[in-house]
Amino acid sequence: MKITELEGVGAEVTGVDLRQLTTSQGAALESAFAEQGLLIIRDQTLSERDHLAFAARWGSINTNRFFKAHPDFAEIALVGKEPDQVVNIGGDWHTDHSYDEIPALGSILVAKELPDVGGETWFVSMYRAFEGLSDGLKKLLVGLSAVHSAKHVFGGSAPYMQEMQKVARLGRPELADALSDPVHPVVVRHPLSGRPALYVNPAFTLRFDGWTEAESKPLLDYLYEAAVAQQKVYRLVWHPGTIAFWDNRATWHFAQNDYHGQRRMMHRVTVEGVPLEPFTGRPHKTPVNHRGPGD
Ligand code: SIN
Repeated sequence: MKITELEGVGAEVTGVDLRQLTTSQGAALESAFAEQGLLIIRDQTLSERDHLAFAARWGSINTNRFFKAHPDFAEIALVGKEPDQVVNIGGDWHTDHSYDEIPALGSILVAKELPDVGGETWFVSMYRAFEGLSDGLKKLLVGLSAVHSAKHVFGGSAPYMQEMQKVARLGRPELADALSDPVHPVVVRHPLSGRPALYVNPAFTLRFDGWTEAESKPLLDYLYEAAVAQQKVYRLVWHPGTIAFWDNRATWHFAQNDYHGQRRMMHRVTVEGVPLEPFTGRPHKTPVNHRGPGD
């Protein structure tokens, strides 16, 4: 097995079969995932059961509330776009599930059907997004929390949900409307690495806790712009057999919507995470709720 650090964020993994991981391969993947926040694993032939078994090594599986599910495996969410569909899933910078009280650890996306060209997924590192800021701004952010929500995206009156319901890709908006909006630290102590990571995102963060939306917007917009401008974006070109496993606490991703008229179908399994703690200035590593490969 070869693990090669990517320019920007993540590591590419080749020469391994995820269905038959040895203990040392599992440990190497675990450590690369904690440090890099993104594994791109090439040349796999995972069945749905294999996909779920690999995901279960990392924690319990979250059954998505809003996405259409695989007809035979409720824990596999279908991230698909049909030729006549205009809007895609995940078509802007975001991290999944920050609207949950306990946000998911990450997701494992398996390519099933790809367009001839386009349909890349882009990634940036939230470790680097924080590292790139001035000491003064870091100090301000470390003391802040932010309110996140699903309502304006997946709720009944959200334009995105209404559009996606027309093509039967998303549903159950009442569940989003019933969620209470959680408050998370703006800089989290990453549960696996202990490193500080910026934890706000353009899709689901509403405002800083105790600030109005109008007061929050300029600083949030600055952070969103800086997060992408200050680092090299990793642009994942999918091939049959490619798998992406990203950490929601350490990365953002962005599914490109540049293949209109073609079908793209991905299977996504999401792994549950742990409550997020603020970064207090002292890196401290606690691999909570992380059973790890091989266990
Ligand atoms: C997502 O945001 O989960 C979708 C990513 C993709 O389809 O590339």
